[in-house]
Amino acid sequence: MKKLLFAVLAVFAINAMAADSGATLFKKCAGCHGVNAEKKALGRSEVINAWKSDKIESALNGYKAGTFGGAMKGIMKSQVANLNKEQIKTLAEYIPSLKK
Ligand code: HEC
Repeated sequence: MKKLLFAVLAVFAINAMAADSGATLFKKCAGCHGVNAEKKALGRSEVINAWKSDKIESALNGYKAGTFGGAMKGIMKSQVANLNKEQIKTLAEYIPSLKK
């Protein structure tokens, strides 16, 4: 019984390590949006650290689905194409925390 418990705990620990943190996921966004998401990406986007999590989450899901965006949405579509729902949620929760 004890062995089983340890096995279960080990799986949880591994999962926790494998999950990407917001900081890790945001690294590839910082080049355009700024380290603290404080810039207008390529001079075109809004400053997204001022956005609420749910707004960011629906924007990112919308870029992925092709249902959201402005003239430069193609850029964002390629940014989010490989992110899963969980990673998008993590980013959406992380970005507002960057606001100073
Ligand atoms: C190559 C530059 C670039 C990178 C890298 C980039 N973005 Fe963007 N982002 C843009 C541009 C340009 C827009 C405005 C696109 C449009 O016209 O809809 C934008 C728009 C957005 C918006 C909506 C803001 C608005 O004004 O509608 C969000 C949210 C966002 N980006 C998040 C991210 C996240 C999260 C990442 C990393 C996974 C990321 N971006 C990576 C350039 C970039």
